[in-house]
Amino acid sequence: MTTLDKVVGRAPTRIDGREKVTGAARYAYEYPVPNAVYVWPVQATIARGRVRAVHGGAALALPGVIAVLNSGNVSRLRPADDAELAVLQSADVAYRGQIVAAVVASTLEGAREAASAVRVDYDEQEHDVVLSPDNPRIFSPRKANAGFPGTVHWGDAESALTAAPAGVDATYTTPAEHASPMEPHATIAFWEGETLTLYNADQAPWMSATAIAALFGLADGAVSIVADHTGGGFGSKAVPRPPTVLAALAARAVGRPVKVAMTRQQMFPLVSYRTPTVQRVRLGAELDGRLTAVWHDALQQSSKRVEYTEQTVAASRMMYATPNSHTAHRLLQLDVPTPSWMRAPGEAPGMFALESAMDELAYALGMDPVELRVVNEPALDPESGLPFSSRNLIACLREGAARFGWAGRDPAPGLRRQGRWLVGTGVASSTYPVLTMASTATVRAEPTGRFVVEIAAADIGTGARTALAQVAADELGVPMDRITVLVGRSVFGPAPFAGGSMGTASWSWAVSKACRALVRELDERAGVIPPEGLQARADTTEDLAAQERFSRHSFGAQFAEVKVDVDSGQVRIERLLGVFAAGRIVNAGTARSQFLGGMTMGISMALHESLQLDPRFGDFTNHDLATYHIASNADVRGIEAHWIDEHDDRLNPVGVKGIGEVGIVGTAAAIANAVFHATGSRQRDLPITLDRVR
Ligand code: MOS
Repeated sequence: MTTLDKVVGRAPTRIDGREKVTGAARYAYEYPVPNAVYVWPVQATIARGRVRAVHGGAALALPGVIAVLNSGNVSRLRPADDAELAVLQSADVAYRGQIVAAVVASTLEGAREAASAVRVDYDEQEHDVVLSPDNPRIFSPRKANAGFPGTVHWGDAESALTAAPAGVDATYTTPAEHASPMEPHATIAFWEGETLTLYNADQAPWMSATAIAALFGLADGAVSIVADHTGGGFGSKAVPRPPTVLAALAARAVGRPVKVAMTRQQMFPLVSYRTPTVQRVRLGAELDGRLTAVWHDALQQSSKRVEYTEQTVAASRMMYATPNSHTAHRLLQLDVPTPSWMRAPGEAPGMFALESAMDELAYALGMDPVELRVVNEPALDPESGLPFSSRNLIACLREGAARFGWAGRDPAPGLRRQGRWLVGTGVASSTYPVLTMASTATVRAEPTGRFVVEIAAADIGTGARTALAQVAADELGVPMDRITVLVGRSVFGPAPFAGGSMGTASWSWAVSKACRALVRELDERAGVIPPEGLQARADTTEDLAAQERFSRHSFGAQFAEVKVDVDSGQVRIERLLGVFAAGRIVNAGTARSQFLGGMTMGISMALHESLQLDPRFGDFTNHDLATYHIASNADVRGIEAHWIDEHDDRLNPVGVKGIGEVGIVGTAAAIANAVFHATGSRQRDLPITLDRVR
């Protein structure tokens, strides 16, 4: 082995870039599978009730139609924690858009036409789909997503708020939002005896395979998921969703391979969304800006079948030093589709509220908003009392302020006018937890001198393959072009999902451990690779505990400059600048893309995204990308992402913190704060549409 310059930290182009831009990269729906037939779901047209009958006769009479599936003629599944996976398991209708039947036909078009010929009779019941703060069924859940406690308090926030010489008490709302990845959900399913293969648009090949096996009562390993390439997920592909289960059920029912591809419209009720939130934030502070109380309450919705509580107030527990704190989630279960993980679940909406309130507090105190954050920097994690493995929020704020040109800013709102535009600037902090899960990985030395890494990671467009190749190259001391990285297959063994920004931290740990084991083996053999190759496998299950002694988070600072049209209220984001402290950056090119992508999602959250639910029908009325607006190139003008060179060796061998989501957090608050600075109109409700600004 030779000594080479390290590639971790540099910006090699994606090893699968050519495959992707030439169209050679295969996504779930594109695998050639002989004899495949097509499945088209029939979705409920009521929000609550029961299916009395599914009339499939007219559909079955159409050419090429093989079966009409309903709750009476598909396999029984085992109960799952996620009741959304109980596809066609009962006649109950829990939300509008639920799968109540499906047509299998020899062509896609035939299945679609036949699905429209299926008639479903319902016993309709009254539905309740409105997240009303007055609903008596609102309760305080014990747990929020990712294991966070529902409610946490220390000190006496109420008394401190009453006694505080300065403070804020404001309510912020965020709408329901849809992940809407570029690649719609798609599955090809086929059975061979008691084994099931799924080509699936998936963030979590191994975890999804395990979940589907349990659902069908199969042995571990009986379900094999192939997800070589996945076109984004943003949480919506992090666990199996109903369309994947439908594919497996349909393939079993007709005894043939089947293909399921969601249309954009079908996806909206079926693959999860972010809950709307109503958040009240109360801050108490001394006149020097030091917080005496943080009080944050988030009201959210879930379905009646699944208690899912987004961890919206979690970041308010660790963000700033305060002797008194009360943070709570409240939940209302409605006749709606189940919300789930989407793009920094918790931190994204929660930090919109907290960081808007911090800006309001800065104005109440006549203090610079950067300095307000600096004086509230905690020495230890305020909630756990643990030391931070590293915490460079202040460095991000300072560097961001310098790069952005924050110094000398006149805080007075509504003063700067350029022609028809009012101009303003705003700042907000960002944070995201450093999560890690155990992973396995295998590395094989081949007699040709190549090394093959196998890990059930998912590259959902992030560049994970490339990052893992860099890690392996450095550990093995060989150039990257001698490394093959195979990901996206459950057969490679336990590995966590591309979610919670934990992929690279978790996977690179296993890859580096396997590489080190292989290097030791090779050293013992004086570097001679036997004809059959040499392989090392690693499992990090035992290694994770050491991190528990630290509070582990990424941080960032987001700066925005906006222009607001004085007549129409239109907001344009002239500049968005983020500085992040996110541990070791493995690939400077793909990392920059991740940050810019996250910040762009933040723009989208700030200005556009909003699912509108019609209470009469219990349905999202804007259920395609024509009516559900997301940020496009025209919304993104000046955008810059930078990072602090952060070395945190208390996390994992590579020092990775995770960068998928921290770029989203804080963006919307920075923009809302800038709109206030521009116009004097405080934006407490997202998205910041024209009517709200004027
Ligand atoms: Mo991400 S919303 O944790 O897939």
